[in-house]
Amino acid sequence: MYLCNFKSKGNMRLKADNHNNTNHKGKMNTPNNPRLDNQEKKNVYVETYGCQMNFADSEIFGSILLKEGYTMVDQVEQSDYVLINTCAIRDNAEQRIRKRLRELRALQRQRPWMHVGILGCMAERLKTQLLEEEENVSFVVGPDAYRKLPSIMKQVKGGVKAAATELSDKETYDDIDPVRLNGNGISAYISIMRGCQNYCAYCVVPYTRGLERSRNPQTIVEEARFLCNEGYKEITLLGQNVNSYRWEHEGAVVGFPQLLAMVAEVSPRLRVRFATSHPKDLSDELLHTMARYDNICKSIHLPVQSGSERMLKLMNRKYTPQWYLNRIEAIRTILPDCSISTDVIAGFCTETEEDHQATLEMFRTVRYDSAFMFKFSMRPDTFAARHLEDDVPEEVKIRRLEEIIALQNQLSLENNQQCIGHTYEVLVEGASRRSKEQLFGRTSQNKVVVFDRGSHQPGEYLKVMVKECSSATLKGVVVTEE
Ligand code: 5AD
Ligand code: SF4
Repeated sequence: MYLCNFKSKGNMRLKADNHNNTNHKGKMNTPNNPRLDNQEKKNVYVETYGCQMNFADSEIFGSILLKEGYTMVDQVEQSDYVLINTCAIRDNAEQRIRKRLRELRALQRQRPWMHVGILGCMAERLKTQLLEEEENVSFVVGPDAYRKLPSIMKQVKGGVKAAATELSDKETYDDIDPVRLNGNGISAYISIMRGCQNYCAYCVVPYTRGLERSRNPQTIVEEARFLCNEGYKEITLLGQNVNSYRWEHEGAVVGFPQLLAMVAEVSPRLRVRFATSHPKDLSDELLHTMARYDNICKSIHLPVQSGSERMLKLMNRKYTPQWYLNRIEAIRTILPDCSISTDVIAGFCTETEEDHQATLEMFRTVRYDSAFMFKFSMRPDTFAARHLEDDVPEEVKIRRLEEIIALQNQLSLENNQQCIGHTYEVLVEGASRRSKEQLFGRTSQNKVVVFDRGSHQPGEYLKVMVKECSSATLKGVVVTEE
């Protein structure tokens, strides 16, 4: 499963130790300074779009480039290379990148040596076609080819457009220590597997990220331990479908529940989260593992996509609504304090009013804490594009999506109201967006809580009693300190 929920464009600032960079620190490249023109131009600006997996990937290629002597800059105006890590999950994600490319043209006129590279899923989907269609793009590099990035960048510097888009069934980048970009120093992602071969009928991910492969668990645990020693308090294990994580070595098999336990044992003060789970293989064993460790966060993202049996079959989701509800039941029984979130698509091919009602009914039954809600967007190459018709009119898709959103807002509010009067352990993440006098953090259930700053700092664990709420946020007061 592909978590494509982060709409933010983040320019990536170097947060971690910058020891590889010092040669280039503070160097300014200006067109009217010929002396600098002869020097190596190695300033890189990274923009990341799309899912958490993309953010984790940017930290991987960031690390590869730092080792090669490149410098990360946080102003696009200072860069010699702009790397755009892209998403292809819906058409509007790609349109956004095209628009950004148009915006960059003006800057490229001022900095004629500046190269723009497209990385990630859109690069993989369109390959060299992108070089032909977008004249200001010099290189495209797909998600499994980031090791080639330095050589590709050297090539384009020599004036040749270049592409590296081979997919691999082995690459996991497990020997690369990601550089922590633009982070808060408190929570970090660890990618545990890559690819997806579920071939949901609407989804482009299997074509842009290749076959599923799991990363050596030892390297995952080492990365978690390293982050913990660096002072990180929370890690999120990432994969398109973490439940099918599987590492086999000399007859021994490590599955996701075992991996999760290994990571949870790194330290009881290190919170562990994961995303995303596919309902077809969410096991009771996993739920029992979550129950055993206090530091495994009680929050499960379980994309439903539709509440209609017919739609789920057509989507090739490999479960029925009954199966899904049985998994919800198991969560409620084994983990009574666990929050549940989901993804849903409105207006998939042939969806009728009855199918849509089944989705609303599913929402009313599960009472999700939160949801990422999308309107279906036909993607080239998918099963849907090859065999089905995008026959739900746009205005009907929009109306159905709005109905789901309205229902979910109500459910989120009601669920949050249930939290009032209860006390939660909150990991403080930073200043609240609204006021510097307030901090925000998250509960184990992944709910955002805002409270007065007092003398507290990001990174602390605090007990906060919830006093009021909206559908998106809890507000509370600190009751005891760590
Ligand atoms: N159109 C709309 N939404 C999609 N998703 C995946 N593919 C599409 C598509 N073609 C949604 C699914 C998935 C989430 C990351 O994006 O809900 O879980
Ligand atoms: Fe998720 Fe299905 Fe896409 Fe795989 S194919 S990323 S399981 S939606």
